[in-house]
Amino acid sequence: MKNQLLQGDALKLLPTLEAGSFDALITDPPYASGGVHANARQRKPSEKYQQSDRMHLHAEFVGDERDQRSHLRWMVLWLAECARLLKEGAPVCLFTDWRQLPLTTDALQAAGFTWRGVAVWDKTEGVRPQLGRFRSQAEYIVWGSKGAMPLARRAPILPGVIRAKVRKDDKLHMTGKPTELMRQVVRICEEGGRILDPFAGSGTTLVAAQLEGYSWIGCELTQHYADVTRERLAGL
Ligand SMILES: C[S@@+](CC[C@H](N)C(=O)[O-])C[C@H]1O[C@@H](n2cnc3c(N)ncnc32)[C@H](O)[C@@H]1O
Repeated sequence: MKNQLLQGDALKLLPTLEAGSFDALITDPPYASGGVHANARQRKPSEKYQQSDRMHLHAEFVGDERDQRSHLRWMVLWLAECARLLKEGAPVCLFTDWRQLPLTTDALQAAGFTWRGVAVWDKTEGVRPQLGRFRSQAEYIVWGSKGAMPLARRAPILPGVIRAKVRKDDKLHMTGKPTELMRQVVRICEEGGRILDPFAGSGTTLVAAQLEGYSWIGCELTQHYADVTRERLAGL
């Protein structure tokens, strides 16, 4: 199957893909974060994740409003579907923040994967400082595998902490990840393998996969971001 961005709901699209046909799952799902209580959670992503005084505002995206119980259930649903699509021993990387770290490690295991660790995305001192508090400088990559993960896989040693600054000209989504960060993360996949990202957003995982010599399939539900991804990939 060729590289493709599928526009629609991952839960409907994933069942149409061939079992055992992917070498890695690397994704940045909606975190459903940004507040402990249901009413805070249900605010628009722009109210939760953007500072209104910032110059460049990004388009809204869907799927970020679930409360804790339904978010966990939803995570397990799509992760279980991804388990069917991955080859034995394939790695899984899930982005999350500090609030959703425990839920994400639970979801990974409930879906049948082996949890192997947590790597750190260090956003550098470029993030907003707050007097008397720790900087909110890290997000996390919960990682694991589908069953045993042979040491002899064709993949390099990867850093446990990846420092990558968010750059305006490289951020095409409200919660977009730096391309340089994703170029490092995709290397967990066996050389030349095929990567699945069910929540592509502005396509950073797919761009990184393409630049690093992997094949890929992505899904994205928000039309605007599916268009951004297609444009970005066409420009490579
Ligand atoms: C955290 S963002 C991904 C951002 C991406 N890593 C980037 O760098 O641009 C998650 C994306 O998942 C999409 N999404 C939410 N629910 C979805 C679903 N059921 N199926 C497919 N995509 C979905 C949202 O529209 C959003 O763009």
